[in-house]
Amino acid sequence: MDKAPQRQIKGTRLKRRSESLSAIALTLTLFIASPVSGQAILEGERFHPAVATQGMVSTSHTLATDVALQVLKEGGNAIDAAVTAGFALAVTQPRSGNIGGGGFMLIAKGDHSAPEAIDFREKAPAAANETMFQDDNGDVVQNRSRFTHLAAGVPGTVAGLAMALERHGTLSLKQALAPAIKLARDGFTVPQRFTDGLEQARPRLERWPATRSTFYKRDGSAYQPGETFRQPKLANTLQRIAEKGVDGFYQGKTADLIVKEMERHGGLITKADLSAYEPVVRSPVHGTYRGYDIYSMSPPSSGGTHIVQILNILEGFPIRESGHNTADTIHWMAEAMKLAYADRSQYLGDTDYVEVPLAGLTSKSYAETLRKDISSEQARPASDIGPGQPAAYESPETTHFSVVDKWGNAVSNTYTINFSYGSGITVEGAGFLLNNEMDDFSAKPGVPNAYGLIGGEANKVEPGKRMLSSMSPTIMKKQGKNFLVTGSPGGSRIITTTLQVILNVIDHDMNIQTAVSAPRVHHQWLPDELRIEQGISGDTIRLLEDRGHTVVTNSAMGAIQSIMVGEDGTLYGGADPRRSTSSAKGY
Ligand code: GLY
Repeated sequence: MDKAPQRQIKGTRLKRRSESLSAIALTLTLFIASPVSGQAILEGERFHPAVATQGMVSTSHTLATDVALQVLKEGGNAIDAAVTAGFALAVTQPRSGNIGGGGFMLIAKGDHSAPEAIDFREKAPAAANETMFQDDNGDVVQNRSRFTHLAAGVPGTVAGLAMALERHGTLSLKQALAPAIKLARDGFTVPQRFTDGLEQARPRLERWPATRSTFYKRDGSAYQPGETFRQPKLANTLQRIAEKGVDGFYQGKTADLIVKEMERHGGLITKADLSAYEPVVRSPVHGTYRGYDIYSMSPPSSGGTHIVQILNILEGFPIRESGHNTADTIHWMAEAMKLAYADRSQYLGDTDYVEVPLAGLTSKSYAETLRKDISSEQARPASDIGPGQPAAYESPETTHFSVVDKWGNAVSNTYTINFSYGSGITVEGAGFLLNNEMDDFSAKPGVPNAYGLIGGEANKVEPGKRMLSSMSPTIMKKQGKNFLVTGSPGGSRIITTTLQVILNVIDHDMNIQTAVSAPRVHHQWLPDELRIEQGISGDTIRLLEDRGHTVVTNSAMGAIQSIMVGEDGTLYGGADPRRSTSSAKGY
Protein backbone atom coordinates (compact mmCIF):
# COMPACT_ATOMS: atom_id res chain seq x y z
CA MET A 1 0.00 0.00 0.00
CA ASP A 2 2.79 2.40 0.95
CA LYS A 3 5.05 1.28 -1.82
CA ALA A 4 3.22 2.62 -4.85
CA PRO A 5 2.86 6.22 -3.60
CA GLN A 6 6.48 6.10 -2.50
CA ARG A 7 7.50 5.10 -6.01
CA GLN A 8 5.30 7.82 -7.39
CA ILE A 9 7.06 10.42 -5.29
CA LYS A 10 10.47 9.10 -6.38
CA GLY A 11 9.35 9.13 -9.99
CA THR A 12 7.98 12.67 -9.72
CA ARG A 13 11.14 13.91 -8.11
CA LEU A 14 13.21 12.29 -10.75
CA LYS A 15 11.10 13.81 -13.46
CA ARG A 16 11.38 17.35 -12.03
CA ARG A 17 15.12 16.96 -11.67
CA SER A 18 15.50 15.61 -15.19
CA GLU A 19 13.23 18.36 -16.53
CA SER A 20 15.47 21.04 -15.08
CA LEU A 21 18.58 19.20 -16.28
CA SER A 22 17.05 18.98 -19.76
CA ALA A 23 16.32 22.69 -19.68
CA ILE A 24 19.97 23.41 -18.88
CA ALA A 25 21.12 20.95 -21.54
CA LEU A 26 18.80 22.53 -24.10
CA THR A 27 20.11 26.00 -23.33
CA LEU A 28 23.70 24.78 -23.67
CA THR A 29 22.89 22.95 -26.90
CA LEU A 30 21.28 26.05 -28.41
CA PHE A 31 24.25 28.08 -27.34
CA ILE A 32 27.07 25.91 -28.65
CA ALA A 33 25.73 23.41 -31.19
CA SER A 34 25.22 23.70 -34.91
CA PRO A 35 21.63 24.10 -36.11
CA VAL A 36 21.43 20.41 -36.92
CA SER A 37 21.20 18.46 -33.70
CA GLY A 38 23.70 15.69 -33.12
CA GLN A 39 25.89 16.58 -36.08
CA ALA A 40 28.18 19.23 -34.75
CA ILE A 41 31.69 18.16 -33.91
CA LEU A 42 32.28 19.94 -30.67
CA GLU A 43 35.60 20.21 -28.96
CA GLY A 44 35.16 18.73 -25.54
CA GLU A 45 32.82 15.95 -26.60
CA ARG A 46 34.09 12.56 -25.48
CA PHE A 47 33.41 10.73 -28.74
CA HIS A 48 34.07 11.99 -32.26
CA PRO A 49 32.77 10.40 -35.45
CA ALA A 50 34.86 9.98 -38.59
CA VAL A 51 34.01 12.90 -40.90
CA ALA A 52 34.12 12.95 -44.70
CA THR A 53 32.32 14.40 -47.69
CA GLN A 54 32.57 11.82 -50.51
CA GLY A 55 32.02 8.41 -48.99
CA MET A 56 31.95 6.58 -45.67
CA VAL A 57 32.28 2.94 -44.66
CA SER A 58 31.70 1.53 -41.17
CA THR A 59 32.44 -2.16 -40.54
CA SER A 60 33.62 -4.39 -37.73
CA HIS A 61 37.03 -4.97 -39.32
CA THR A 62 39.60 -2.38 -40.44
CA LEU A 63 40.68 -4.41 -43.49
CA ALA A 64 37.09 -4.71 -44.73
CA THR A 65 36.61 -0.97 -44.23
CA ASP A 66 39.84 -0.29 -46.16
CA VAL A 67 38.98 -2.39 -49.23
CA ALA A 68 35.43 -1.00 -49.39
CA LEU A 69 36.68 2.57 -49.06
CA GLN A 70 39.15 1.93 -51.90
CA VAL A 71 36.22 0.86 -54.10
CA LEU A 72 34.46 4.17 -53.33
CA LYS A 73 37.63 6.16 -54.04
CA GLU A 74 37.98 4.44 -57.42
CA GLY A 75 34.46 5.50 -58.42
CA GLY A 76 32.43 2.50 -57.27
CA ASN A 77 29.09 3.06 -55.60
CA ALA A 78 27.88 2.07 -52.11
CA ILE A 79 26.58 -1.28 -53.35
CA ASP A 80 29.95 -2.15 -54.94
CA ALA A 81 31.70 -1.20 -51.71
CA ALA A 82 29.25 -3.13 -49.51
CA VAL A 83 29.58 -6.34 -51.54
CA THR A 84 33.38 -6.00 -51.49
CA ALA A 85 33.26 -5.55 -47.69
CA GLY A 86 30.95 -8.56 -47.35
CA PHE A 87 33.39 -10.88 -49.14
CA ALA A 88 36.41 -9.38 -47.31
CA LEU A 89 34.80 -9.98 -43.91
CA ALA A 90 34.28 -13.63 -44.89
CA VAL A 91 38.09 -13.83 -44.92
CA THR A 92 39.21 -11.50 -42.14
CA GLN A 93 36.49 -12.18 -39.58
CA PRO A 94 35.51 -15.86 -39.85
CA ARG A 95 33.52 -15.78 -36.62
CA SER A 96 30.68 -13.92 -38.39
CA GLY A 97 31.76 -12.72 -41.83
CA ASN A 98 30.81 -15.52 -44.13
CA ILE A 99 29.95 -17.25 -47.35
CA GLY A 100 28.41 -20.16 -45.39
CA GLY A 101 25.58 -18.15 -43.86
CA GLY A 102 23.02 -15.55 -44.84
CA GLY A 103 21.57 -12.15 -44.05
CA PHE A 104 19.76 -9.07 -45.23
CA MET A 105 20.79 -5.99 -47.20
CA LEU A 106 18.82 -2.75 -47.23
CA ILE A 107 19.52 -0.38 -50.12
CA ALA A 108 18.25 3.22 -50.27
CA LYS A 109 19.41 4.97 -53.42
CA GLY A 110 20.32 8.62 -53.46
CA ASP A 111 17.72 9.18 -56.18
CA HIS A 112 14.96 8.83 -53.53
CA SER A 113 13.50 5.71 -55.14
CA ALA A 114 11.76 3.36 -52.70
CA PRO A 115 14.27 1.51 -50.51
CA GLU A 116 14.58 -2.18 -51.23
CA ALA A 117 15.64 -5.16 -49.16
CA ILE A 118 17.49 -8.20 -50.39
CA ASP A 119 16.68 -11.24 -48.29
CA PHE A 120 19.49 -13.78 -48.45
CA ARG A 121 18.57 -15.59 -45.27
CA GLU A 122 19.40 -19.30 -45.18
CA LYS A 123 16.61 -21.78 -45.90
CA ALA A 124 15.73 -25.10 -44.32
CA PRO A 125 16.75 -28.00 -46.59
CA ALA A 126 13.93 -29.85 -48.36
CA ALA A 127 14.32 -32.84 -46.04
CA ALA A 128 13.90 -30.72 -42.87
CA ASN A 129 10.83 -31.24 -40.70
CA GLU A 130 9.05 -29.88 -37.66
CA THR A 131 10.33 -32.46 -35.18
CA MET A 132 13.89 -32.88 -36.42
CA PHE A 133 15.34 -31.34 -33.26
CA GLN A 134 13.20 -33.43 -30.88
CA ASP A 135 13.79 -36.93 -29.49
CA ASP A 136 11.25 -39.78 -29.52
CA ASN A 137 9.53 -38.29 -26.45
CA GLY A 138 9.12 -34.94 -28.17
CA ASP A 139 11.80 -33.29 -26.02
CA VAL A 140 14.20 -30.86 -27.70
CA VAL A 141 17.74 -32.21 -28.14
CA GLN A 142 19.35 -28.82 -27.78
CA ASN A 143 22.76 -29.21 -29.39
CA ARG A 144 21.33 -30.91 -32.45
CA SER A 145 20.18 -27.53 -33.83
CA ARG A 146 23.46 -25.87 -32.84
CA PHE A 147 26.54 -28.07 -33.26
CA THR A 148 25.73 -30.80 -35.79
CA HIS A 149 25.44 -30.86 -39.57
CA LEU A 150 21.65 -30.68 -39.11
CA ALA A 151 22.15 -27.15 -37.73
CA ALA A 152 23.08 -25.73 -41.14
CA GLY A 153 20.56 -23.98 -43.33
CA VAL A 154 21.19 -23.65 -47.07
CA PRO A 155 23.61 -20.69 -47.29
CA GLY A 156 22.40 -17.48 -48.95
CA THR A 157 25.30 -15.02 -48.73
CA VAL A 158 26.93 -15.61 -52.13
CA ALA A 159 23.61 -15.41 -54.00
CA GLY A 160 22.51 -12.35 -52.00
CA LEU A 161 25.69 -10.34 -52.52
CA ALA A 162 25.73 -11.28 -56.21
CA MET A 163 22.10 -10.17 -56.57
CA ALA A 164 22.83 -6.79 -54.93
CA LEU A 165 25.69 -6.23 -57.35
CA GLU A 166 23.68 -7.27 -60.37
CA ARG A 167 20.71 -5.04 -59.48
CA HIS A 168 22.53 -1.93 -58.28
CA GLY A 169 26.30 -2.27 -58.62
CA THR A 170 28.77 -1.26 -61.29
CA LEU A 171 31.52 -3.82 -60.51
CA SER A 172 31.61 -7.40 -61.73
CA LEU A 173 31.49 -10.17 -59.14
CA LYS A 174 35.11 -10.91 -60.05
CA GLN A 175 36.14 -7.33 -59.21
CA ALA A 176 34.22 -7.36 -55.93
CA LEU A 177 35.84 -10.65 -54.93
CA ALA A 178 39.42 -9.67 -55.84
CA PRO A 179 40.38 -8.06 -52.49
CA ALA A 180 38.90 -11.01 -50.53
CA ILE A 181 40.80 -13.53 -52.66
CA LYS A 182 44.03 -11.60 -52.13
CA LEU A 183 43.46 -11.44 -48.36
CA ALA A 184 42.76 -15.17 -48.25
CA ARG A 185 45.71 -16.18 -50.45
CA ASP A 186 48.39 -13.73 -49.24
CA GLY A 187 47.07 -13.65 -45.69
CA PHE A 188 46.59 -10.80 -43.26
CA THR A 189 48.07 -9.78 -39.95
CA VAL A 190 46.11 -11.28 -37.08
CA PRO A 191 44.71 -8.82 -34.52
CA GLN A 192 44.33 -9.72 -30.84
CA ARG A 193 40.57 -10.24 -31.23
CA PHE A 194 41.15 -12.95 -33.86
CA THR A 195 43.40 -14.92 -31.50
CA ASP A 196 41.10 -14.42 -28.51
CA GLY A 197 38.05 -15.60 -30.45
CA LEU A 198 39.72 -18.82 -31.57
CA GLU A 199 40.97 -19.53 -28.05
CA GLN A 200 37.51 -18.95 -26.55
CA ALA A 201 35.76 -21.17 -29.11
CA ARG A 202 38.49 -23.84 -29.13
CA PRO A 203 36.49 -26.63 -27.37
CA ARG A 204 33.78 -26.62 -30.02
CA LEU A 205 35.99 -25.80 -33.03
CA GLU A 206 38.79 -28.33 -32.62
CA ARG A 207 36.32 -31.24 -32.63
CA TRP A 208 36.22 -30.96 -36.43
CA PRO A 209 39.46 -31.83 -38.29
CA ALA A 210 38.78 -29.41 -41.17
CA THR A 211 38.13 -26.56 -38.73
CA ARG A 212 41.25 -27.44 -36.76
CA SER A 213 43.49 -27.47 -39.84
CA THR A 214 41.92 -24.28 -41.28
CA PHE A 215 42.03 -22.05 -38.22
CA TYR A 216 44.84 -23.41 -36.01
CA LYS A 217 48.49 -24.14 -36.67
CA ARG A 218 49.80 -27.67 -37.18
CA ASP A 219 50.76 -27.90 -33.49
CA GLY A 220 47.19 -26.93 -32.54
CA SER A 221 48.04 -23.46 -31.26
CA ALA A 222 46.13 -20.37 -32.42
CA TYR A 223 47.71 -17.74 -34.68
CA GLN A 224 49.10 -14.99 -32.47
CA PRO A 225 48.63 -11.21 -32.89
CA GLY A 226 51.06 -9.95 -35.51
CA GLU A 227 51.36 -13.30 -37.32
CA THR A 228 50.09 -13.82 -40.88
CA PHE A 229 47.03 -16.03 -41.37
CA ARG A 230 46.46 -17.53 -44.83
CA GLN A 231 43.44 -19.48 -46.14
CA PRO A 232 44.41 -21.10 -49.49
CA LYS A 233 41.31 -23.35 -49.63
CA LEU A 234 38.98 -20.43 -49.04
CA ALA A 235 40.91 -18.47 -51.72
CA ASN A 236 40.22 -21.29 -54.19
CA THR A 237 36.52 -21.39 -53.23
CA LEU A 238 36.24 -17.62 -53.75
CA GLN A 239 38.14 -17.93 -57.04
CA ARG A 240 35.54 -20.43 -58.32
CA ILE A 241 32.81 -17.84 -57.58
CA ALA A 242 34.87 -15.15 -59.37
CA GLU A 243 35.17 -17.38 -62.43
CA LYS A 244 31.72 -18.97 -62.59
CA GLY A 245 29.47 -16.54 -60.72
CA VAL A 246 26.96 -17.96 -58.20
CA ASP A 247 27.17 -21.32 -59.98
CA GLY A 248 30.75 -21.46 -58.73
CA PHE A 249 29.27 -21.90 -55.25
CA TYR A 250 25.84 -23.51 -55.67
CA GLN A 251 26.99 -25.99 -58.32
CA GLY A 252 30.23 -27.71 -59.31
CA LYS A 253 33.12 -28.38 -56.96
CA THR A 254 32.01 -26.27 -53.98
CA ALA A 255 28.50 -27.76 -54.06
CA ASP A 256 30.08 -31.24 -54.25
CA LEU A 257 32.24 -30.49 -51.21
CA ILE A 258 29.26 -29.20 -49.20
CA VAL A 259 27.13 -32.23 -50.07
CA LYS A 260 29.96 -34.68 -49.29
CA GLU A 261 30.39 -32.95 -45.92
CA MET A 262 26.66 -33.46 -45.27
CA GLU A 263 26.68 -37.09 -46.36
CA ARG A 264 29.66 -37.96 -44.14
CA HIS A 265 27.94 -36.59 -41.04
CA GLY A 266 24.17 -37.04 -41.45
CA GLY A 267 23.42 -33.49 -42.69
CA LEU A 268 20.47 -32.72 -44.95
CA ILE A 269 21.68 -30.21 -47.57
CA THR A 270 21.58 -31.72 -51.07
CA LYS A 271 22.67 -30.52 -54.49
CA ALA A 272 19.03 -29.81 -55.26
CA ASP A 273 18.79 -27.57 -52.15
CA LEU A 274 21.87 -25.65 -53.24
CA SER A 275 20.86 -25.15 -56.85
CA ALA A 276 17.32 -24.15 -55.80
CA TYR A 277 18.53 -21.40 -53.44
CA GLU A 278 17.32 -17.93 -54.46
CA PRO A 279 17.51 -14.63 -52.62
CA VAL A 280 14.32 -12.54 -52.56
CA VAL A 281 13.76 -8.82 -53.12
CA ARG A 282 11.37 -7.56 -50.43
CA SER A 283 9.82 -4.28 -49.36
CA PRO A 284 11.27 -3.11 -46.08
CA VAL A 285 8.99 -2.43 -43.11
CA HIS A 286 8.17 1.29 -42.98
CA GLY A 287 7.28 3.40 -39.95
CA THR A 288 7.75 6.92 -38.66
CA TYR A 289 9.22 8.32 -35.47
CA ARG A 290 8.89 11.98 -34.55
CA GLY A 291 8.74 12.97 -38.21
CA TYR A 292 11.53 10.71 -39.50
CA ASP A 293 10.86 7.79 -41.85
CA ILE A 294 12.22 4.43 -40.77
CA TYR A 295 12.90 1.58 -43.18
CA SER A 296 14.04 -1.70 -41.71
CA MET A 297 14.02 -5.41 -42.39
CA SER A 298 10.74 -7.16 -43.02
CA PRO A 299 10.07 -10.88 -42.31
CA PRO A 300 11.65 -13.38 -42.22
CA SER A 301 13.39 -10.95 -39.88
CA SER A 302 11.44 -9.68 -36.92
CA GLY A 303 13.83 -6.73 -36.63
CA GLY A 304 12.09 -3.98 -38.58
CA THR A 305 8.63 -4.88 -37.32
CA HIS A 306 9.59 -4.61 -33.67
CA ILE A 307 11.83 -1.56 -34.02
CA VAL A 308 8.86 0.27 -35.55
CA GLN A 309 6.48 -1.17 -32.92
CA ILE A 310 8.69 -0.11 -29.99
CA LEU A 311 9.30 3.34 -31.47
CA ASN A 312 5.54 3.77 -31.93
CA ILE A 313 4.98 2.97 -28.25
CA LEU A 314 7.81 5.25 -27.10
CA GLU A 315 6.63 8.15 -29.25
CA GLY A 316 3.95 8.76 -26.61
CA PHE A 317 6.46 9.17 -23.77
CA PRO A 318 8.57 12.29 -23.09
CA ILE A 319 11.87 10.52 -23.79
CA ARG A 320 13.78 13.69 -24.68
CA GLU A 321 12.58 15.53 -21.56
CA SER A 322 13.32 12.56 -19.33
CA GLY A 323 16.86 12.29 -20.68
CA HIS A 324 19.26 9.58 -21.79
CA ASN A 325 19.38 6.45 -19.63
CA THR A 326 17.46 7.95 -16.74
CA ALA A 327 15.38 5.47 -14.75
CA ASP A 328 12.18 6.78 -16.39
CA THR A 329 13.55 6.41 -19.92
CA ILE A 330 14.97 2.94 -19.29
CA HIS A 331 11.71 1.86 -17.62
CA TRP A 332 9.58 2.97 -20.59
CA MET A 333 11.97 1.34 -23.03
CA ALA A 334 11.95 -1.94 -21.09
CA GLU A 335 8.14 -2.04 -20.82
CA ALA A 336 7.79 -1.40 -24.57
CA MET A 337 10.47 -3.99 -25.42
CA LYS A 338 8.67 -6.68 -23.36
CA LEU A 339 5.42 -6.15 -25.24
CA ALA A 340 7.14 -6.35 -28.61
CA TYR A 341 9.08 -9.52 -27.82
CA ALA A 342 5.88 -11.18 -26.53
CA ASP A 343 4.25 -10.44 -29.89
CA ARG A 344 7.36 -11.71 -31.69
CA SER A 345 6.99 -15.08 -30.00
CA GLN A 346 3.47 -15.49 -31.35
CA TYR A 347 3.21 -13.81 -34.71
CA LEU A 348 6.56 -13.66 -36.49
CA GLY A 349 7.79 -16.12 -39.08
CA ASP A 350 8.60 -16.39 -42.78
CA THR A 351 5.82 -14.60 -44.67
CA ASP A 352 6.32 -16.99 -47.60
CA TYR A 353 4.85 -19.66 -45.27
CA VAL A 354 2.73 -17.92 -42.62
CA GLU A 355 0.65 -14.79 -42.46
CA VAL A 356 2.09 -12.13 -40.19
CA PRO A 357 -0.14 -9.21 -39.06
CA LEU A 358 2.50 -6.68 -40.07
CA ALA A 359 0.21 -3.70 -40.58
CA GLY A 360 -1.36 -4.28 -37.18
CA LEU A 361 1.90 -4.74 -35.34
CA THR A 362 3.41 -1.58 -36.81
CA SER A 363 0.32 0.63 -36.54
CA LYS A 364 0.19 3.72 -34.33
CA SER A 365 -3.24 2.69 -33.00
CA TYR A 366 -2.01 -0.71 -31.77
CA ALA A 367 0.95 1.04 -30.10
CA GLU A 368 -1.49 3.40 -28.39
CA THR A 369 -3.45 0.46 -27.00
CA LEU A 370 -0.27 -1.16 -25.69
CA ARG A 371 1.01 2.12 -24.26
CA LYS A 372 -2.12 2.58 -22.13
CA ASP A 373 -1.21 -0.55 -20.18
CA ILE A 374 2.28 0.68 -19.32
CA SER A 375 2.57 2.10 -15.82
CA SER A 376 5.32 4.66 -15.35
CA GLU A 377 5.67 3.54 -11.76
CA GLN A 378 5.69 -0.22 -11.85
CA ALA A 379 7.26 -2.88 -14.10
CA ARG A 380 4.81 -5.46 -15.38
CA PRO A 381 5.97 -8.99 -14.62
CA ALA A 382 6.58 -10.97 -17.83
CA SER A 383 4.07 -13.53 -16.55
CA ASP A 384 1.32 -10.87 -16.83
CA ILE A 385 2.21 -10.21 -20.45
CA GLY A 386 1.29 -12.32 -23.41
CA PRO A 387 1.11 -11.61 -27.11
CA GLY A 388 -1.32 -8.74 -27.78
CA GLN A 389 -4.02 -8.48 -30.38
CA PRO A 390 -2.84 -6.43 -33.32
CA ALA A 391 -5.40 -5.64 -36.00
CA ALA A 392 -6.53 -8.66 -37.97
CA TYR A 393 -4.11 -10.33 -40.31
CA GLU A 394 -3.74 -8.22 -43.43
CA SER A 395 -6.04 -9.42 -46.04
CA PRO A 396 -4.37 -10.20 -47.89
CA GLU A 397 26.56 -12.75 -32.87
CA THR A 398 26.38 -11.65 -36.76
CA THR A 399 28.09 -8.65 -38.24
CA HIS A 400 26.87 -5.40 -39.69
CA PHE A 401 28.31 -2.83 -42.09
CA SER A 402 27.02 0.47 -43.40
CA VAL A 403 28.16 2.37 -46.51
CA VAL A 404 27.20 5.74 -48.02
CA ASP A 405 28.66 7.03 -51.30
CA LYS A 406 29.02 10.46 -52.92
CA TRP A 407 25.72 10.04 -54.80
CA GLY A 408 23.84 9.58 -51.53
CA ASN A 409 23.28 5.84 -52.04
CA ALA A 410 23.14 3.99 -48.73
CA VAL A 411 23.58 0.33 -47.88
CA SER A 412 22.89 -1.28 -44.52
CA ASN A 413 23.85 -4.95 -44.38
CA THR A 414 23.69 -7.51 -41.59
CA TYR A 415 24.76 -11.11 -42.21
CA THR A 416 25.73 -14.02 -40.03
CA ILE A 417 26.43 -17.69 -39.45
CA ASN A 418 24.52 -17.31 -36.12
CA PHE A 419 26.87 -18.10 -33.20
CA SER A 420 30.50 -17.00 -33.28
CA TYR A 421 31.94 -19.40 -35.89
CA GLY A 422 28.42 -20.74 -36.57
CA SER A 423 28.17 -24.50 -36.21
CA GLY A 424 31.97 -24.68 -35.89
CA ILE A 425 31.96 -27.05 -38.88
CA THR A 426 34.25 -26.21 -41.81
CA VAL A 427 33.43 -27.71 -45.21
CA GLU A 428 36.34 -30.10 -45.83
CA GLY A 429 38.35 -28.87 -48.81
CA ALA A 430 36.44 -25.59 -49.16
CA GLY A 431 37.80 -23.68 -46.16
CA PHE A 432 34.63 -21.97 -44.88
CA LEU A 433 32.41 -22.42 -41.85
CA LEU A 434 28.78 -23.50 -42.03
CA ASN A 435 26.06 -21.62 -40.21
CA ASN A 436 23.96 -23.05 -37.38
CA GLU A 437 20.98 -20.94 -38.27
CA MET A 438 18.47 -23.81 -37.90
CA ASP A 439 18.56 -22.93 -34.17
CA ASP A 440 16.66 -19.74 -35.04
CA PHE A 441 13.59 -21.87 -35.83
CA SER A 442 11.54 -22.89 -32.83
CA ALA A 443 12.68 -26.48 -32.27
CA LYS A 444 9.37 -26.88 -30.43
CA PRO A 445 6.80 -24.14 -29.73
CA GLY A 446 7.52 -22.53 -26.37
CA VAL A 447 11.10 -23.88 -25.99
CA PRO A 448 13.68 -21.04 -26.08
CA ASN A 449 16.51 -20.95 -28.62
CA ALA A 450 20.12 -20.07 -27.81
CA TYR A 451 19.18 -16.40 -27.27
CA GLY A 452 16.35 -17.35 -24.89
CA LEU A 453 13.84 -16.33 -27.56
CA ILE A 454 10.55 -18.20 -27.55
CA GLY A 455 8.94 -19.04 -30.86
CA GLY A 456 5.62 -20.48 -31.84
CA GLU A 457 3.89 -22.28 -34.70
CA ALA A 458 4.66 -19.38 -37.06
CA ASN A 459 8.37 -20.18 -36.77
CA LYS A 460 8.29 -23.98 -36.80
CA VAL A 461 10.68 -25.84 -39.14
CA GLU A 462 9.28 -26.45 -42.61
CA PRO A 463 11.12 -27.53 -45.78
CA GLY A 464 12.44 -24.56 -47.74
CA LYS A 465 11.33 -22.06 -45.09
CA ARG A 466 13.52 -19.24 -43.78
CA MET A 467 14.08 -19.20 -40.02
CA LEU A 468 13.01 -16.10 -38.07
CA SER A 469 15.75 -13.54 -37.53
CA SER A 470 16.28 -10.42 -35.43
CA MET A 471 18.64 -8.81 -37.92
CA SER A 472 17.66 -5.20 -38.42
CA PRO A 473 19.54 -3.34 -41.14
CA THR A 474 17.90 0.07 -40.91
CA ILE A 475 17.90 3.30 -42.90
CA MET A 476 16.16 6.43 -41.62
CA LYS A 477 15.18 9.29 -43.87
CA LYS A 478 14.63 12.92 -43.02
CA GLN A 479 12.42 14.81 -45.44
CA GLY A 480 13.00 12.10 -48.03
CA LYS A 481 16.81 12.09 -47.78
CA ASN A 482 18.92 9.29 -46.32
CA PHE A 483 19.83 10.40 -42.80
CA LEU A 484 20.89 7.46 -40.63
CA VAL A 485 22.28 4.11 -41.79
CA THR A 486 22.64 1.60 -39.00
CA GLY A 487 22.41 -2.00 -37.82
CA SER A 488 23.98 -4.42 -35.38
CA PRO A 489 24.92 -7.97 -34.48
CA GLY A 490 23.87 -9.40 -31.11
CA GLY A 491 21.19 -12.08 -31.57
CA SER A 492 18.09 -11.05 -29.67
CA ARG A 493 19.77 -7.74 -28.73
CA ILE A 494 20.01 -6.58 -32.34
CA ILE A 495 16.56 -5.00 -32.20
CA THR A 496 17.08 -3.13 -28.93
CA THR A 497 20.61 -2.04 -29.86
CA THR A 498 19.44 -0.52 -33.14
CA LEU A 499 16.45 1.06 -31.39
CA GLN A 500 18.65 2.84 -28.83
CA VAL A 501 20.98 4.30 -31.44
CA ILE A 502 17.90 5.77 -33.15
CA LEU A 503 16.68 7.23 -29.84
CA ASN A 504 20.15 8.57 -29.02
CA VAL A 505 20.23 10.46 -32.31
CA ILE A 506 16.63 11.65 -32.48
CA ASP A 507 15.69 12.22 -28.83
CA HIS A 508 19.06 12.79 -27.21
CA ASP A 509 20.80 14.78 -29.97
CA MET A 510 23.98 12.73 -29.81
CA ASN A 511 26.56 12.75 -32.55
CA ILE A 512 26.73 9.32 -34.19
CA GLN A 513 29.89 8.16 -32.40
CA THR A 514 28.43 9.08 -29.01
CA ALA A 515 25.13 7.42 -29.96
CA VAL A 516 26.92 4.20 -30.90
CA SER A 517 29.18 4.19 -27.83
CA ALA A 518 26.62 5.04 -25.12
CA PRO A 519 25.65 2.27 -22.64
CA ARG A 520 22.60 0.24 -23.62
CA VAL A 521 19.89 -1.85 -21.99
CA HIS A 522 17.88 -4.84 -23.19
CA HIS A 523 14.65 -6.62 -22.26
CA GLN A 524 13.15 -9.43 -24.32
CA TRP A 525 10.09 -10.33 -22.20
CA LEU A 526 11.45 -13.78 -21.32
CA PRO A 527 13.59 -14.27 -19.32
CA ASP A 528 12.07 -11.47 -17.21
CA GLU A 529 15.35 -9.59 -16.82
CA LEU A 530 16.39 -6.06 -17.62
CA ARG A 531 19.95 -6.44 -18.90
CA ILE A 532 22.16 -3.41 -18.42
CA GLU A 533 25.54 -2.67 -19.81
CA GLN A 534 28.41 -1.25 -17.80
CA GLY A 535 28.11 2.53 -17.46
CA ILE A 536 24.64 2.96 -15.95
CA SER A 537 24.75 4.31 -12.43
CA GLY A 538 23.98 2.35 -9.28
CA ASP A 539 21.36 4.97 -8.35
CA THR A 540 19.55 4.39 -11.62
CA ILE A 541 19.67 0.64 -11.12
CA ARG A 542 18.15 1.02 -7.63
CA LEU A 543 15.33 3.20 -9.01
CA LEU A 544 14.61 0.52 -11.61
CA GLU A 545 14.64 -2.23 -8.98
CA ASP A 546 12.22 -0.16 -6.88
CA ARG A 547 9.82 -0.32 -9.82
CA GLY A 548 10.02 -4.10 -9.87
CA HIS A 549 12.66 -4.74 -12.54
CA THR A 550 15.07 -7.62 -12.09
CA VAL A 551 18.27 -5.97 -13.26
CA VAL A 552 21.21 -7.98 -14.60
CA THR A 553 24.35 -5.86 -14.80
CA ASN A 554 27.45 -6.06 -17.05
CA SER A 555 25.51 -7.60 -19.93
CA ALA A 556 27.16 -7.71 -23.35
CA MET A 557 25.51 -5.82 -26.23
CA GLY A 558 25.85 -5.88 -30.02
CA ALA A 559 28.43 -3.76 -31.84
CA ILE A 560 26.59 -1.36 -34.12
CA GLN A 561 28.16 0.24 -37.22
CA SER A 562 26.48 3.47 -38.31
CA ILE A 563 26.66 6.48 -40.62
CA MET A 564 24.79 9.75 -40.27
CA VAL A 565 24.32 12.15 -43.18
CA GLY A 566 24.31 15.84 -42.33
CA GLU A 567 21.94 18.32 -43.95
CA ASP A 568 24.82 19.65 -46.06
CA GLY A 569 25.76 16.11 -47.12
CA THR A 570 28.69 15.73 -44.71
CA LEU A 571 29.10 12.09 -43.67
CA TYR A 572 29.66 11.09 -40.05
CA GLY A 573 30.80 7.53 -39.31
CA GLY A 574 30.34 5.82 -35.95
CA ALA A 575 32.12 2.47 -35.42
CA ASP A 576 31.32 0.58 -32.25
CA PRO A 577 34.20 0.56 -29.71
CA ARG A 578 32.76 -2.68 -28.27
CA ARG A 579 34.77 -4.47 -31.01
CA SER A 580 38.47 -3.62 -31.04
CA THR A 581 38.66 -4.10 -34.84
CA SER A 582 35.68 -1.80 -35.66
CA SER A 583 36.49 0.94 -38.11
CA ALA A 584 34.66 3.86 -39.72
CA LYS A 585 36.58 5.69 -42.42
CA GLY A 586 35.68 8.13 -45.17
CA TYR A 587 37.29 10.33 -47.76
N1 GLY B 1 21.02 -15.59 -35.92
C1 GLY B 1 20.56 -14.44 -35.29
C2 GLY B 1 19.45 -13.79 -36.02
O1 GLY B 1 19.30 -13.99 -37.21
O2 GLY B 1 18.67 -13.09 -35.43
